Amino acid sequence: DKGEYRHYMLKEIHEQPRVIKATMEGRVTATKVLEQALGTEAGNLLQDVRHVQIIACGTSYHAGMVARYWIEDLAGVPCSVEVASEFRYRNHVIQKDTLFLCISQSGETADTLAALRQAKKAGFRAALAICNVPGSTLVRESDLVIMTQAGPEIGVASTKAFTTQLTALLLFTLALARKNGLSEEREAEIVKALHLVPGQVNDVLALDGEIAEMSMRFMDKNHALFLGRGSQYPVAMEGALKLKEISYIHAEAYPAGELKHGPLALVDSEMPVVTVAPNNHMAEKLKSNLEEVRARGGELFVFADRAANIKPEDNIHVIQLPEVHEITAPIVYTVPLQLLSYHVAVLKGTDVDQPRNLAKSVTVE
Ligand code: M6R
Repeated sequence: DKGEYRHYMLKEIHEQPRVIKATMEGRVTATKVLEQALGTEAGNLLQDVRHVQIIACGTSYHAGMVARYWIEDLAGVPCSVEVASEFRYRNHVIQKDTLFLCISQSGETADTLAALRQAKKAGFRAALAICNVPGSTLVRESDLVIMTQAGPEIGVASTKAFTTQLTALLLFTLALARKNGLSEEREAEIVKALHLVPGQVNDVLALDGEIAEMSMRFMDKNHALFLGRGSQYPVAMEGALKLKEISYIHAEAYPAGELKHGPLALVDSEMPVVTVAPNNHMAEKLKSNLEEVRARGGELFVFADRAANIKPEDNIHVIQLPEVHEITAPIVYTVPLQLLSYHVAVLKGTDVDQPRNLAKSVTVE
């Protein structure tokens, strides 16, 4: 039931504060992650993990890309991420102390399941699933499971599944990091930041009107670029995927530092450039990337916090986001991009919940 909402996607976007909270519930105290809440075997299975191999498709793959930054930064454990459809068809090396981590909303994605089954033959320490559907094939075939508590997701474009996957992935990262020397203070700092996320997402939802107005500038465009740096690069990828899926505007994401290496040639007044720019250690570098775009007559749409100090000017539209911790920023910064693509699609009159050619669950190759 869509209730008061015009589309399931919009309803699901608005459910995020609640389902993010639900995904944390019973798994964290005010200052730390309860390892046993990740499964009674978790302590044991995570003990000697020396490498994490993440496998997923689509939006779930983007969640894995964000997690890679967290796992290497906080746990100091090397992490690789690959789309399942590629992984399953190449020869790969899996060391026995690898944690094989599949991320899937449905738990029924054919490529992801095939990759898991194939990796099992090669041997690894344990298979962890991050999944939204209890009793799904992926859940049944994994050693350790962290369920996201997003509830049923009806819209084909994944929204609340993604932000709850990120929440679960951060809890997992902290549990792994503790075994690898993360200090109690740093853990407490991040858990406290995570407790603030539902409220921050609510603040972003309150920007809906501003974002809807911005969306009008995309309606008649055929292409868009999405830029981010660091853990915000996968957020940009997810933003581009949302726009493609539901508004049929061609969108590409780039890590902003790659601009000069090619895509800058595309930039003109017909190519809107969307940027996610929290005030992290890359903010200064990102600003000089933005200058490159502006100098070529590009129109910039920036989501940034006040401290990033990006001023609106001609051709630079800025929407200010709440101040967020650098680690939790990818969760919060995803939300305005969901709203942007939603409003563009509504303006274009496309079928928001059931985009052409796509199925909610890809159970065939
Ligand atoms: O159920 P899964 O998470 O395994 O699905 C993976 C992708 O098919 C899915 O995320 C797809 O990309 C969505 N339509 C994205 O909005």
